Amino acid sequence: MHADDAIRSRKSVRRFLPTPVPAATVRHILQVSARAPSGNNVQPWRVYAVAGEPRQRLCDAIVLAATTDPDRHQPEYAYYPTQWVEPYLDRRRRCGFGLYATLGIARDDTEARERQMLRNYVFFDAPVGLLVTLDRRLNTGSFMDLGMFIQNIMVAARAQGLHTCAQAAFAWFHKVVRDQLPLSEHEILACGIALGHEDPAAPENAFITERAEPEVFAHFAGFEAAP
Ligand SMILES: Cc1cc2nc3c(=O)[nH]c(=O)nc-3n(C[C@H](O)[C@H](O)[C@H](O)COP(=O)(O)O)c2cc1C
Repeated sequence: MHADDAIRSRKSVRRFLPTPVPAATVRHILQVSARAPSGNNVQPWRVYAVAGEPRQRLCDAIVLAATTDPDRHQPEYAYYPTQWVEPYLDRRRRCGFGLYATLGIARDDTEARERQMLRNYVFFDAPVGLLVTLDRRLNTGSFMDLGMFIQNIMVAARAQGLHTCAQAAFAWFHKVVRDQLPLSEHEILACGIALGHEDPAAPENAFITERAEPEVFAHFAGFEAAP
């Protein structure tokens, strides 16, 4: 697979088939992904891969926490700003509304939106869940390294015919994850990743997000011709 095709065909899949993913395939994806660069090659990531019973127990525990006492759970790092500004606000809205529109969920249907949000905690039915952590004794720069590693996982999954969805939603429930998996006190739960086979019939998987063109986000200087 051409690198461009692997990158372009990656998308957030939010409904997976039950088809299992062998441990060897998960290991291969992680081995390839660990070729990600990191400052001073510190390789700050750790991954907890769950399938079968441990995955089910984790999902049950988080769904219970998320439905009974969600306000008690907070992430250990701030992913989103408290105050959104443009152009991010508009992009964020388009993303949310676009997804709900493909699912036929009305903007004011908070119950249906909540149900869809909770699907995060069953990894959108993916048979494999990855929980990605970062050592808190490192610094902000290591979040860059972690992001490259996470992107590698999502792109390497494409080379195996698999799809993913990165899920910051898990960061809120790090205490529940800690009850289930042996994270050390040094680890921040950065995100989850759903991994599996896309359900091609699911409407939510047909939702393709927009991107700004380089003219919007890049500045060129010193080239002979316009790109
Ligand atoms: C680190 C990270 C965390 C994310 N967390 C969630 C999440 O918790 N739930 C979800 O449905 N999508 C999540 N997403 C997916 C984004 O909404 C998605 O990447 C974005 O809308 C662009 O769409 P695309 O991935 O299909 O290209 C996350 C993406 C990233 C990179």
